[in-house]
Amino acid sequence: METVRGDEAGDTANGEAGRRVDGEAPEETPGEAVGWRAAAERALYGPNGFFLREAPAAHFRTAVHASPLFARAVAELLTRVDEALGRPAELAFTDVGAGRGELVAGVLAALPPAVAARVRPCAVERAPRPAGLDPRIDWRAEPPPGAEGLLFANEWLDNVPLDIAERGGDGVVRYVLVVPSTGEERPGAPVTGPDAAGLRRWWPLPREEGARAEIGLPRDLAWARAVGSLARGLAVAVDYAHLRADRPPFGTLTGYRHGRAVPPVPDGTRDLTAHVALDACAGPGAVLLPQRRALRALGVTGGRPPLAMATADPAGYVRALAAAGEAAELTDPAGLGGFTWLIQPVGIGAPPL
Ligand SMILES: C[S@@+](CC[C@H](N)C(=O)[O-])C[C@H]1O[C@@H](n2cnc3c(N)ncnc32)[C@H](O)[C@@H]1O
Repeated sequence: METVRGDEAGDTANGEAGRRVDGEAPEETPGEAVGWRAAAERALYGPNGFFLREAPAAHFRTAVHASPLFARAVAELLTRVDEALGRPAELAFTDVGAGRGELVAGVLAALPPAVAARVRPCAVERAPRPAGLDPRIDWRAEPPPGAEGLLFANEWLDNVPLDIAERGGDGVVRYVLVVPSTGEERPGAPVTGPDAAGLRRWWPLPREEGARAEIGLPRDLAWARAVGSLARGLAVAVDYAHLRADRPPFGTLTGYRHGRAVPPVPDGTRDLTAHVALDACAGPGAVLLPQRRALRALGVTGGRPPLAMATADPAGYVRALAAAGEAAELTDPAGLGGFTWLIQPVGIGAPPL
């Protein structure tokens, strides 16, 4: 079984040696240390970057891969959003950070025909469109603007690169620089400006030397942009998350490769991921729910089928048992069920779940 991950701004202000343009990987001189955001940007999305080359499912297991029950629950949510919107002629379903389009395909397959006929399915990805994908699915680099419907992002924000800050022995909070080929770290310039303001508000660093924080501003902005693409509807981000009262003192940056957690070296050979401060991403009216509660509200339950069914309908019993096992995995508080749903309504009142 593949590993479930999470078990364990903008200029040269961070003191890195390379050029830095927002959202673009810098030119790299071998052995030179750069900020973590720039290093991860290049490793994951630069030329031949990890996620442009590799299918996420080959390296770790998300809820999308764990069971078709997840896509069915998202399809149920989409039908509720459809109702809340008054059944528009075109209902958008936009999956941001879509991997190879698995969730969009699963949701299309699970929708009632009357809703499927009006749905505009869209996968938003930095990787190229995979061969053989259902031709109804639009594949693009940015969410379509002005959409009405559901925008969903499963384990996207944890892969939006960010800078890391660390408190030095002199008490000063500095950017952490990293040598991409080795992962060796060294201190950079002091954190100032919007990054420092963001840390004060969302991730105040303890006084101890070596305390680290992940500067989530690029994720807050990425999420706000995605939500802003909706004219009306619901935006949902699902990820392993932490809240302001309970930030991890040394951060969460981790690597994954072929189903195993590995050191976070930004050399392009592995996934680089850090848990998400979803409370910092939340906009007005947003609700944060544990995945187990969100999925239960959408009809995913983990109960065993009655034993009597084993004799009355053996094949049905085996199917129901398998589904119960998958539901248990999706809702396990120590695994995927411990993920957080950030549920953001846009112009529809209370979220329909
Ligand atoms: C951890 S994978 C999740 C894939 C899928 N959602 C799932 O749950 O199985 C994260 C995906 O987000 C994509 N991604 C990262 N940043 C993105 C961006 N700004 N726009 C679109 N896709 C992005 C990556 O290429 C990668 O395929």
